Amino acid sequence: MNIINKIDKLEELGEDKIFGIVNEYKNDERDCKINLAIGVLVDDNKLFKFNVVKNEEDKCKTHGYLSISGNSNFTKLHYELVTGNKYTDELVYQTLSGTGAISLAAKVLNMLDYKDIYLPSSTWTNHNNIFKSNNFNINYYDYITKPRLDNDKLLESLSKVKNSLVLFQSCCHNPTGVDIENDTWDKIVELMKQNNNIVIIDNAYQGLVSGNLDEDNYSIKKFISEKIPSFICSSHAKNFGLYGQRIGGLIINIDNKKLNNYVKKIIRSEYSSPPYFGSSIVENILSNDDKYKLWAKEVYGQVIKLKKIRVHLYTKLRQNGIMWYDIMNTNGLFYQTNLGVKQIKKLKIEYGIYMLENGRINLAALNLDNMSYFVNSVKKILK
Ligand code: LMR
Repeated sequence: MNIINKIDKLEELGEDKIFGIVNEYKNDERDCKINLAIGVLVDDNKLFKFNVVKNEEDKCKTHGYLSISGNSNFTKLHYELVTGNKYTDELVYQTLSGTGAISLAAKVLNMLDYKDIYLPSSTWTNHNNIFKSNNFNINYYDYITKPRLDNDKLLESLSKVKNSLVLFQSCCHNPTGVDIENDTWDKIVELMKQNNNIVIIDNAYQGLVSGNLDEDNYSIKKFISEKIPSFICSSHAKNFGLYGQRIGGLIINIDNKKLNNYVKKIIRSEYSSPPYFGSSIVENILSNDDKYKLWAKEVYGQVIKLKKIRVHLYTKLRQNGIMWYDIMNTNGLFYQTNLGVKQIKKLKIEYGIYMLENGRINLAALNLDNMSYFVNSVKKILK
């Protein structure tokens, strides 16, 4: 069989569930269109840029190679930001953002012969892609019973998972915006310990719940202090606005340095070494007290803005008889509506409003100018 026959035999594959919609949005020529599909911070209908990041952009010192595990100043500062602990000699790798960190974790765990992963029943679409393409059997634990987390159901479901891998999202859950509370994290950590599980933590939005970088990582600190073997996968796409620079990190909370050269071997064969530019921006900001303070203030500003958007949207919907009251229980960029596939399609085709098929909207893309149009359009499709 030649390659053409082989390609012909493949099943048709749709576009990516997030980037595919963004492409459709880009091709829409209507002025009224709104892109609620992708998770980015937005200001005045444009990508939000942190001022403190802007000020560092001309300071890139080299276009040379980084080492395989990345910029060592960055990885040290990254470790300290994510864990709240002083760096000594833990296993930390600069990765291609959060996706790259999770994908690297999957490859390391694959090499160690792990076969099963448990994901939240509602999760980021790319989690499925990453673990499927690394040949994992994908299982789910109960995550949400709208409008809140049903803690009993969540814990009961997790109590059945043994000797396996479990993925959690540290905060600003994607797509629901509904987060696990600290006392439930304490119980989860106990369960993971009793059941001999390994955890993978997706930490893509640190700072964007409370504005306090050291509060949003409660679960991570707990998994580390209780010595749960953990793969902590963080992104600086949102909290530094460095989306396309692909800046993130993988921290492996396992005290066995033998793994280090194996992880590096995987990186070397995948992308050799990570990018310098974005990591130097993060390094400059995290290593300087004044810049750090400015950055943390800007992160907090985005949190306040997201809270205001929630209040405006909730109020406007209510005035129009639409009761999405659980919006106020959510954190971060996302809210998952109960709209069905047909309604979502109608919003796209008739009104130029683009959101994910699973009902997720990026609240950061709403503002005082487009909010009425969004609410009126939802009202019309609900009739
Ligand atoms: C999202 O969920 O929209 C973002 O994390 C972007 C992505 O890579 O999917």
